[in-house]
Amino acid sequence: MNVTFTVNDESVRIDVEPRRTLADALRDNCDLTGTHLGCEHGVCGACTVLVDGEPVRACLMFAVQAEGCAITTVEGLQHDGALHPLQEAFVDHHGLQCGFCTPGMLLTAVHLLEHNPSPDRRTIREAMSGNICRCTGYQSIVDAVEAAAQRYPPGP
Ligand code: FES
Ligand code: FES
Repeated sequence: MNVTFTVNDESVRIDVEPRRTLADALRDNCDLTGTHLGCEHGVCGACTVLVDGEPVRACLMFAVQAEGCAITTVEGLQHDGALHPLQEAFVDHHGLQCGFCTPGMLLTAVHLLEHNPSPDRRTIREAMSGNICRCTGYQSIVDAVEAAAQRYPPGP
C-alpha cells in the first residue's frame, strides 16, 4: 500500500505492506534509524516519535495509519546543524550513557516542554515515566529536562 506523510517537514511517499509498523517504515523505508526498537510491544518507549505533535509508540502503530500525518523523529530536532536545547542539555548533564533510550526520551521531553515549559521535577518524572532507561538511573535525565526548560522555547 502507498502511504504519504511528512517526516521532519519533508513529504515522504512509501510503499509498505499493511502490517509494517511505523517504526520499521521509518527505519527501513525512510533510513531514519534514530528511532530505536527495544521491546517492540509498547513497553520501553525507545521508539517514541511525535505524530501530529503527540508522542506515539511507533512499534504499535502501522505505517498506513500515518497517512497524512506530520511525524517528528529525533533526526528532526536539530535546526541548521544546531542541537535542540534538550539535546544540548542531555549532553551537558550526562542524560545518556549507551544512548539507546535517548531518542524516545528526547521526543517525550519535547512534548512535555511544549505543553508545560516550566515543569517541576515531579512533573518531569511523571511525564518521562513511560520511557525505560537501563543505564542512567534517571536522575541525570531529569536534570537535563529541568535544565532544558530554562532555555525553552528553542530559537527559530
Ligand atoms: S520498542 Fe516500542 S515501546 Fe519498546
Ligand atoms: S542511556 Fe542506555 S538505556 Fe538509557
